[in-house]
Amino acid sequence: MIPILELSTQYAQIKTEVEEAVLRALRSTHYILGPEVEAFEAEFAAWNGAQFGIGVGNGTDALHLALRALGVGAGDEVICPSFTFVATAGAAALTGATPVFADIDLRAYALDPASVEAAITPRTRAIVAVHLYGHPAPMEELQAIARRHGLGLVEDCAQSTGATLQGRRTGTLGDLGCFSFFPSKNLGGIGDGGMVLTSNPELAERVRMLRGHGSKVRYYHEMVGTNSRLDEIQAAALRVKLRHLEAWNLRRREIAATYTAGLQGTYAKPPIEGPGCEHVYHQYTLRTPDRDALQKHMQASGVGAVVYYPVCLHMQKAFSHYGPSTVSLSVSEKAQAEVLSLPMFPELTGQQIETVLRAIKSFSPAPAPVG
Ligand SMILES: Cc1ncc(COP(=O)(O)O)c(C=O)c1O
Repeated sequence: MIPILELSTQYAQIKTEVEEAVLRALRSTHYILGPEVEAFEAEFAAWNGAQFGIGVGNGTDALHLALRALGVGAGDEVICPSFTFVATAGAAALTGATPVFADIDLRAYALDPASVEAAITPRTRAIVAVHLYGHPAPMEELQAIARRHGLGLVEDCAQSTGATLQGRRTGTLGDLGCFSFFPSKNLGGIGDGGMVLTSNPELAERVRMLRGHGSKVRYYHEMVGTNSRLDEIQAAALRVKLRHLEAWNLRRREIAATYTAGLQGTYAKPPIEGPGCEHVYHQYTLRTPDRDALQKHMQASGVGAVVYYPVCLHMQKAFSHYGPSTVSLSVSEKAQAEVLSLPMFPELTGQQIETVLRAIKSFSPAPAPVG
């Protein structure tokens, strides 16, 4: 079976480096907000081209605290995609605000600026753009909308670490960039972890306060915050892995290019890379109307292919009390019915890639309906 993701080969390659770093953190006995976190915050911010990095407990907290730093709360609306992982809208809801879903564009599976504009009301306070699967969202257009309407712009970079738009890394294109270091991510830790990047000193200070109970000086609390910190052991491991990320992302791009070349002339629509964009292929996601049958066929052929995501957020019980969306979400619903992600991790071998392609090519989709 070729799995969608396999971590053990990569771990074997960096075992000595990671274990030395983890032991160093362990033996230091400085477990919370110590030198490893401080160094990783600076290294990760510099690698991306941001001024400040604030380590937090996970990607969900990164989004939640970024929105809170912008002042988002009860009575506000936050526009985000419906076709994304639940945390994007969940984090907005956790601030007390209402998540308002806008539609996506099928080329990049990212927010459609026209739909965002149509979803704006006098209560809109912020937009959360998701760089889904590792492809940058149309940040220039979203930036222009945010500026025109005086809205905050947050980037959900959980899947896009290293991706660039016009040479600039995602996470530095809005007011705040939010990252997840969940083990499956392009830069994955050895447990949960997250980071907020910003180049705005006031926002950086607010996120830093919010992650530590709203205080600058211990036991003096200026706002109600939470406890959400990246821990020293995670930071020590992530510092090692950050040194390999460029090469790993390059290998993902090579694998994607092989998949795309192999899919030419077949029934499957491969993902695209928009102008000025560098995709980092957290997922390699194709589209076909006969998706469910293809997925079954792939599984029977020994290939793990997964649907990210099978149910849009506007159709989830968790968000049903917000009522129906004011804008059409038909493109999101089409994506939900047609996407399928192929095995993708830097250690995939040429032989495994060939097996995946053979499985796709040996499937005969149902003929498209007439009309
Ligand atoms: C798009 C997106 N946003 C947010 C998150 C949340 O990150 P975490 O699992 O670290 O809380 C994830 C990943 O799980 C994600 O894929």
